[in-house]
Amino acid sequence: MKRQPVKVVRTVADLRKVVVGWRKSGEKVALIPTMGALHDGHLQLVRTAQKRARRTVTSIFVNPAQFAPHEDLARYPRDEAGDLAKLKTVDCDLVWAPGPAEMYPEGFATRVVPAGAAEGLETDYRPHFFGGVATVCCKLFTQVGPEFAMFGEKDYQQLQVVKQMVADLNLPLKIIGVPTIREKDGLAMSSRNKYLDESQRRIAPAIQRAIKRLADECAALGVALTSARIAKLAEAARAEIAAAGFDTVDYVEVRDAVTLKPVDGKSGRPMRVLAAAWLGKTRLIDNVAV
Ligand code: PAF
Repeated sequence: MKRQPVKVVRTVADLRKVVVGWRKSGEKVALIPTMGALHDGHLQLVRTAQKRARRTVTSIFVNPAQFAPHEDLARYPRDEAGDLAKLKTVDCDLVWAPGPAEMYPEGFATRVVPAGAAEGLETDYRPHFFGGVATVCCKLFTQVGPEFAMFGEKDYQQLQVVKQMVADLNLPLKIIGVPTIREKDGLAMSSRNKYLDESQRRIAPAIQRAIKRLADECAALGVALTSARIAKLAEAARAEIAAAGFDTVDYVEVRDAVTLKPVDGKSGRPMRVLAAAWLGKTRLIDNVAV
């Protein structure tokens, strides 16, 4: 059977008409929030969503509220026609693609201010970021009204921040984290990989190798993993990423996998290694479980 083009809606009123129809038929809905420039990691979110809900809505909105004035909002990759073609291959039911004026009409003045999991790591380098993400996600959740929303573990701190917001504000949906999809050489798939030139692309997988080694070293130490050992091992991982050719390493940290606070082996808590580093003008982030 020939696949139909994916239906696109651009106003909240049109979005609600479609979703209300599904609800009347008792169909569950899953949302996949994206900023477009879709890759296989996003398509995997759609496939995972389809296991939980009869209907899938992918939102495509490059959210100005999560970019600082000096960041890459203007050059962020946009390819709606390509995105729609990709979403057709996985039978996504609906694309929610509002313009900035529909999402943030004149007079818009409310912002969600996340703390907890939002403190430190990305926030030390992009202080505006999680406020913008939490605000737009809160709006997307109330616009679509899904039972589930899917987030890639690639943006691990974002996933924890959104989970905390949903719990704190009693939002009636479940957030599902989906494991990172990687290229054959280990580089985490990301829309920003498009910025890398050939030589940067060769260097890029070093970030994943270094944090994987660090995670294995932490796991091997078990309860003997003290804060001092973590600091030393993380410093070695930072040096490894820099030696591979990264221009700046923002951070390499071992944190509690849920609260993202500093942790040690004695706590018995699940841990996560998180890193961010620059190749030229491109900032890559990655993380792995310990
Ligand atoms: O991860 C992203 O693409 C964005 O931060 C999100 C969740 C779609 C919010 O704009």
